[in-house]
Amino acid sequence: MINILFVGDIVGDGGCKIFKETLAALKAKEKIDAVIVNGENSDNRNGISKSSAEYLFSAGADVITGGNHSFRNNDILEMMDSEEALLRPENYSKKASGHGVCIIDKLSYKIMVLNLAGRIYMDPAEDPFSTAKNIISKHSDCAVKIIDFHAEATSEKAALAHYLKGSVSAVLGTHTHIPTADAQIMEGGTAFITDVGMTGPRHSILGVEVENIVQKFITGMPVRFHQAKGDCVFCGILLSVDEKTGKTAQIKPINTI
Ligand SMILES: [Fe+2]
Ligand SMILES: [Fe+2]
Repeated sequence: MINILFVGDIVGDGGCKIFKETLAALKAKEKIDAVIVNGENSDNRNGISKSSAEYLFSAGADVITGGNHSFRNNDILEMMDSEEALLRPENYSKKASGHGVCIIDKLSYKIMVLNLAGRIYMDPAEDPFSTAKNIISKHSDCAVKIIDFHAEATSEKAALAHYLKGSVSAVLGTHTHIPTADAQIMEGGTAFITDVGMTGPRHSILGVEVENIVQKFITGMPVRFHQAKGDCVFCGILLSVDEKTGKTAQIKPINTI
């Protein structure tokens, strides 16, 4: 069995720091074989930047996944092309920077990580269902397959998990920043959760200053969003996966909200 830690949307410096601290604490208690984090909000201003990606890799991330905020900073674009383990959704335009799939090769086993985006209440993207099937069929030599499905609609996330059950180790939802209570192992050994949640500022609305969001709702006018500061929460998932079959035996949410 291998243990894989997946961390939900990391927001700003505070989120990056609590990720580093929590990973160190987890490693002191149990064996962690691979670490995958969603870093689309890890820069302090917005999106992900070269410096926030470098911080997450140096703090212990093997793979950084992304989403609708992946392209907000120009300084990340070159790194997206050159760094194999830095992902953005695979079903974005073929002409966009970067790529959405990578392999973690630990010599005795391999882990395929695939990042996909949903299409309900999201930016335009190719069909995530056929994209997933196509990528999975190309990596039959890789038993362990983890999918970060960055999507808004709960139905779309559940549908992808059911569509792929038995053929991947896990379908883990990200993007809403709110952890859901439905962590489960589906038939065929596929772990699923609708949303892993956010690793970022506790006193916030999805990581943004409360006042900004409330003002937007009560006025209906554009408001500049600022990342909230202060004490942070950690939301992640710990998976125990059979590295030979790719089937997941256990999914354990870690949530400090
Ligand atoms: Fe996010
Ligand atoms: Fe997102």
